Amino acid sequence: MCGIVGYIGKKQACDILLEGLKRLEYRGYDSAGVAVIRDNELIVEKSKGRITTLENKISDKLQSATTGIAHTRWATHGEPNEANAHPHTDHTGKIALVHNGIIENFASLRKYLESQNIEFTSETDSEVLAKLIGHFYKEGNLEQAVRDALSEVQGTYGIAVICSDCPDKIVAARKGSPLIVGIGNDEFIVASDASAIIEHTNQVIYLSDGEMVTVNAEGFRTTTLDDVPVTKDIQQLEWKLEEIELDGFEHFMLKEIFEQPQSLRTCMRGRINTREGAIHLGGIANYTRELARAHRFIFTACGTAWHAGLIGEYLFEELARLPAETEYSSEFRYRNPIIEDGSVICAISQSGETADTLAALREAKEKGALAIGIVNTVGSTIARETDAGIYLHVGPEIGVASTKAFTGQIAVLAMLGAYLGRRRHLSQHNFEQFISALEKIPDQIEEVLNLSNTIRQIAGDLFECEHWLYLGRGYNYPVALEGALKIKEISYVHAEGMPAAEMKHGPIALVNPGMPAVFIATHSSQYDKILGNIEEVKARGGKVVAVITKGDSQLAKKCDYIFEVPQTPEPLEPLLTVVPLQLLAYHVAVLRGCNIDKPRNLAKSVTVE
Ligand code: M6R
Repeated sequence: MCGIVGYIGKKQACDILLEGLKRLEYRGYDSAGVAVIRDNELIVEKSKGRITTLENKISDKLQSATTGIAHTRWATHGEPNEANAHPHTDHTGKIALVHNGIIENFASLRKYLESQNIEFTSETDSEVLAKLIGHFYKEGNLEQAVRDALSEVQGTYGIAVICSDCPDKIVAARKGSPLIVGIGNDEFIVASDASAIIEHTNQVIYLSDGEMVTVNAEGFRTTTLDDVPVTKDIQQLEWKLEEIELDGFEHFMLKEIFEQPQSLRTCMRGRINTREGAIHLGGIANYTRELARAHRFIFTACGTAWHAGLIGEYLFEELARLPAETEYSSEFRYRNPIIEDGSVICAISQSGETADTLAALREAKEKGALAIGIVNTVGSTIARETDAGIYLHVGPEIGVASTKAFTGQIAVLAMLGAYLGRRRHLSQHNFEQFISALEKIPDQIEEVLNLSNTIRQIAGDLFECEHWLYLGRGYNYPVALEGALKIKEISYVHAEGMPAAEMKHGPIALVNPGMPAVFIATHSSQYDKILGNIEEVKARGGKVVAVITKGDSQLAKKCDYIFEVPQTPEPLEPLLTVVPLQLLAYHVAVLRGCNIDKPRNLAKSVTVE
């Protein structure tokens, strides 16, 4: 999604802004722009396409400025072109604005402004906000103009605004779109994402919805939109610069796949104690009784996080005997869902900013549910709006295709399921066996990662196939969905994931000679059944690729290609079986020449509906 960076300080703003935009590239964008104030003049430069194109257009004129704002745009209203790129300016050319979010009543506001003889140069909703601020602006009082304009708009926004009349000031505000202010030595960086800040400082404040901040040489002042002062705590960013660098890997996705042993160790550190035979989850400690006595858990999420939720549903039912269901956030929020006493809403999100998940969470909270978050990004909106939660602690995920966040989400759900299970029906013996198996997972993933070269060779045979099936049962059904999503989003091939038994109810019609069918066929409770499904595909000439339990030579003989994973209890299998599928998607995408970390049409964090 769109990205915002603003800088005010003593250094050359342009360099810092462009560097910040590059750090935000992973979020997805199609045009970029920058505005600076130099010698009381507002200068704007924009371009369609990559940030390097913008960089090439930056003239010396922009270089010495020390105040500026910049933006990467992911088109919503109006095609990706220079006119629609941000920053947008007001009718006087003094004020520039960058905006994330959507102004829903932009059409009526535009009509009104046009009736005031204000002309527009783009098709965007964001330009309306820039022009509206200009319309309200009275010499020197940028904050009041921003307040007046925001009181007229409906929708969501994270904005940063500058004005050539007040060259050492940035005004920023948020409603529904994240904004963070980094506090450095004699400098401030306003950004929509911590990755644009981390290089300069780890001291930040997170703006909440309905808050505004003015930063200038003297410091920062936060208020509500009605100008009531708000005191903000300065917080420390958890992430380190090295974590957002490629560190010798060709792509972030590959780096993040290979980071999984370590990211899961960090996720479980201090939480699993096999010596004591206990799990400690500090983030939910104050709510343990309510959670263990809950009548129903509702997991809500989108995409990969929704797949993790499905696994959570199985884990909670099996380990804790707790009724659980998993809902697409986008459906749940509009369905007028029934929330009875004792319901817990559990939002699962890597970014903690996904608009639909946030809205689903708010809907359930409004109806009285206890709200829990399973989130990676510390300080994100979902993390702040839940009553309690468990962070993934897997480090920043930059690749658009989610990998280490998925395994982190499953690990957290496994810990939480076992933790609540122990307080309900799970015996100490079974609990201890489960957590010691969970603790072994990072070492076992290391073993699976050794398959990468073999998987690359297999990808060499299959990468030209345009249609793929992914099939699994039980805990491995969501893994089939995830395997299919991974290959779709980065390779642009058509892939369908489904419960293996569903194949006979229609999709088997798709199988033709040479079509790859990827089975997750571990030695689990439904092993015999999945063997039957494999035979059905073979009989129709499909190519069988199977993730199998190590040493299953009998099944190996039936398959065209196999990926062996070590043995673990069935509820933990997804942590191992998904890894070869991540690698398969990666190698196929590389062979197809796709842009792995910036797949077409996709954004890392979907902060609009
Ligand atoms: O940040 P979130 O976990 O809330 O994001 C949810 C989905 O947008 C995300 O998982 C998406 O499906 C990924 N691109 C999948 O790889």
